Amino acid sequence: MVFSPGRINLIGEHTDYNEGFVFPAAIDLGIALAIQKSASNRSCVYALNKEEMYEIDLSNLAPLKDGGWRNYVLGVVGELAKIGITVGNFDSVFAGNIPGGAGMSSSAALENSFVFALNELFDLQMEKKDMILISQKAEHNYVGVKCGIMDQYASMLGEKESALLLDCRSIKSQPFKIQLQNLQLVLVNTNVKHDLSESAYNDRRNVCEKVARLLNIQSLRDASESSLDRIKNQLSDSEYKKALYVLRENKRVQLFSEAILNKDYTSMGKLLYETHEGLSKNYKVSCDELDFLVEKTKSMDTVYGARMMGGGFGGCTINLVLESAIGTFKTEISNQFFEEFGIPCSIYDVTISQGTHLISDN
Ligand code: GLA
Repeated sequence: MVFSPGRINLIGEHTDYNEGFVFPAAIDLGIALAIQKSASNRSCVYALNKEEMYEIDLSNLAPLKDGGWRNYVLGVVGELAKIGITVGNFDSVFAGNIPGGAGMSSSAALENSFVFALNELFDLQMEKKDMILISQKAEHNYVGVKCGIMDQYASMLGEKESALLLDCRSIKSQPFKIQLQNLQLVLVNTNVKHDLSESAYNDRRNVCEKVARLLNIQSLRDASESSLDRIKNQLSDSEYKKALYVLRENKRVQLFSEAILNKDYTSMGKLLYETHEGLSKNYKVSCDELDFLVEKTKSMDTVYGARMMGGGFGGCTINLVLESAIGTFKTEISNQFFEEFGIPCSIYDVTISQGTHLISDN
């Protein structure tokens, strides 16, 4: 049995596929998977929450049209096969408690749970670092989202009580103990996920790659604002703003890590607000519900900072809130959200936890 967690991200959004910096952490919500070898000529996967069963013919692997969760599993097995790793048949069942569409990486948790479990079951001798690349490719080639490495990395390699400052070029991270004294991280889920999110995600990535090509560099990680200004006339206003967002966000991640070390919570909060502003106005991946939640916190002096988290177009905001005021914060934000949109938001406290691991049976 394997547990594979979802993740939060403190700061560094849409920087991972630009070989930049991100600051995620694994959480205590995730996917539990039980698996055993099977003598049959098919593999079975049962999705307990959905009460859906799927049979896989390992000799015939391809993405399904509208396959939903099945494509994550097929993707892992298919990408292993592509690099010459074949596994035997298996029976498996999984269940999870990460709210779907919340930007907390239920997809990475599912991919990681399978790649990790198959590695154990069939003794594939893979390192966690190889496994996350399989999970990422499953997402690219079977799900169709050209994601960066942040989600798979955080879910697989997360550490208890620490967030990871991850350099997405070297794929190496540095843990930072998250002890926020009298503050706490709280997620507020809009409970909406607007349709466009997948194609819009890939579009953003294309824009970043186009700008990098024009600058003759490998990725926006290597760009500076002055170099960007030099090619401004070759870009549309919206392309320019998107690239500018990425450059500034990379700097904010560095500043945020310094602020953590200095226990400078005011600066951390300010950076969160700046990130949201950039994601909303320049990168254009926010939505009314997320903007509303962030805006409302600005008049609460018990909130240090807030921003949308993850890919965007719905999902959660992450908020840095004074512990003693959490009760009032929850009531106020829920009431205001309901009044505005006529649907409830959901609120979760965050516990930073360990990455993908075996669940011991004693
Ligand atoms: C999604 C992707 C990640 C990352 C974030 C935005 O979660 O899977 O790779 O790009 O969006 O930061």
